[in-house]
Amino acid sequence: MSKRRMIVGGNWKMFKTPSEAISTAKALKVKVINVQDVEIVICPPFPDLVPVHEMIKGSNIKLGGQNLYWEDQGAFTGEVSARMLKDAGCDYVIVGHSERRHVFGEQNHEINKKVRKALAEGLTPIFCVGEKIDERKSGLTEKIVEEQMRTGLAEVSLSAAEDLVVAYEPVWAIGTGENATPDQAAEVHAFVRRILGELFGEELSITIRIQYGGSVKPANADQLMSQNNIDGALVGGASLDAESFAAIIKSAENVAR
Ligand code: 13P
Repeated sequence: MSKRRMIVGGNWKMFKTPSEAISTAKALKVKVINVQDVEIVICPPFPDLVPVHEMIKGSNIKLGGQNLYWEDQGAFTGEVSARMLKDAGCDYVIVGHSERRHVFGEQNHEINKKVRKALAEGLTPIFCVGEKIDERKSGLTEKIVEEQMRTGLAEVSLSAAEDLVVAYEPVWAIGTGENATPDQAAEVHAFVRRILGELFGEELSITIRIQYGGSVKPANADQLMSQNNIDGALVGGASLDAESFAAIIKSAENVAR
């Protein structure tokens, strides 16, 4: 039996104004008030962070950003720093999400700078990896994921790696309604765990949580999260609604091991 604690994140992407975000956070807080064994994180858009933090302060829900820049401050229009996220109440930050990679062109070496900066400033990176459909069809899934991991996690120290969360999100499953089957997900999760072992040693690698993301819903959450090496979920669409997100969190609680 492993000692990993399940972690379920809600990536709200570019949805919800501050007032909408506050009411979703409020509804969620009530629904998950008794959940103890699952780490719960919500990642709203930047303008929502401070008011949502006010709403969830003292609850069992933690806050995360969806991106960061690796410099402390400066003339970087449109970017936010790790310190800003911390001060806004974040404990987590999503790094290298597939939409950052494929819509905004983020590269593995840039993602690496973000991972290291987040860790250096005491934010837990939720580091995302995953292959596109043509890559899967060409049998390149492991090659792509390994490259993303080896470059993205380069020069991360052993002590820093303890705080890492990895999210495996096959790009073809994101927002499509077509989730990876539990077997497909478990296979890549085992591979991710193996690479973590090569990077950080086996002992540490088994403590690092690996979330699955891509069309997770209340109806498939149990099946996915009960697989070996799946330590939670990173949820997009279904996290926007407090009721469906709470149902996924409760699935994680049921399969918590
Ligand atoms: P969906 O759950 O909407 O497929 O999104 C997954 C995701 O990208 C979470 O980061």
